[in-house]
Amino acid sequence: MTGEPLRESPARTAARIDLSAVRHNVRTLIGRAGGARLMAVVKADAYGHGAVEVARAALSAGADSLAVVTAEEGAELRDAGIGAPVLVFTDLLPEKLALAASRGLTVTAHSPQSARRIAAVPGLRAHLKVNTGMNRWGVAPDEVGEARRVLGDRLTGVYTHLACADSDPEDSGSTRRQLALFEEVLDAGSFAGLTVHAANSAGTLWHPRSRYDLVRPGVAIYGMHPQGDEGDPHEEGLRPVMSLVSYVADTRRLEPGDGVSYGLTFRAEEPMYAATVPAGYAEGYRRTLSNAGVAIVRGERRPVLGRVTMDAMVLGVDGVVEVGDEVVLVGEQAGERVGAEELGRLAGTINYEITTGVNPRRVERIYIGR
Ligand SMILES: Cc1ncc(COP(=O)(O)O)c(C=O)c1O
Repeated sequence: MTGEPLRESPARTAARIDLSAVRHNVRTLIGRAGGARLMAVVKADAYGHGAVEVARAALSAGADSLAVVTAEEGAELRDAGIGAPVLVFTDLLPEKLALAASRGLTVTAHSPQSARRIAAVPGLRAHLKVNTGMNRWGVAPDEVGEARRVLGDRLTGVYTHLACADSDPEDSGSTRRQLALFEEVLDAGSFAGLTVHAANSAGTLWHPRSRYDLVRPGVAIYGMHPQGDEGDPHEEGLRPVMSLVSYVADTRRLEPGDGVSYGLTFRAEEPMYAATVPAGYAEGYRRTLSNAGVAIVRGERRPVLGRVTMDAMVLGVDGVVEVGDEVVLVGEQAGERVGAEELGRLAGTINYEITTGVNPRRVERIYIGR
């Protein structure tokens, strides 16, 4: 932690990914799922954690299937030798349907037209997504019958997505309305024997009625809180998976009136020290953390001074901090913690965007807990 540390990575900033935490979170979520099976959502390179490694860990802990958003994300899992069922959530262009079929992916039908495109590809299987109020993707309830007929025995599942399961677990009016409409659709159609699902992480944790045959958590698998910019994942029995770690690359003393970084938007009011950290928005440390972010050095929380730049940012420190000291941008050090929830709030975003935005071309992933 001090002096010339044993750096785990030659990268300027590294993401430590704890696969034992992935396994712990999957088991915890299965324990909360009331007997439902678990599909691990590993889209967007597993929310920035690395899809192949996370998928393997999740499957080894009891997940029985995976979900992605593009056919290429599914193909990456197949290329790594992962044979578990993979569902693609979004509507795919016809040429991508062929890729999905060739890699044994299950796709999603979002309309009668999308069902026809799927039915035209030999061997391709689909789940039908029903729009029950999120109004982003999904077939309208009054077109479900038509889409269902078009798909025939290609259809293996039916699902919906909840808009507000995370907002307020106590006031679940809109979730109840969505689930009631979903159940009306299920009752009216012929879906016997198909896999029925609705629950994201928030549904899995807080809305028992949404669990049906299978739950589809994403963010909770990564040990983050579904409320995004608040909440403590530990209180839900979850363990954060990613720590983002950098180091002090330079230090300097500031005199009263000295400014820091582009625009000199921070000015020292008294003599103080500044530490330069080689993590900027190219690494995924968001520019909205300018004069707002906080990081841990030598077990103490330190403020971001001035603007976060593309390649570096500056922390306010004391004279004891040395070049080489470890800087924890997300995670824990010596009992202090900056969660992705807190950093998301400070950045004006949510934990999902903090980890998904970490740039793997700049930030090496170091897997531990295999
Ligand atoms: C259809 C669908 N299901 C499940 C999830 C997982 O959501 P969460 O990460 O909130 O658990 C997502 C993520 O956006 C999704 O689009």
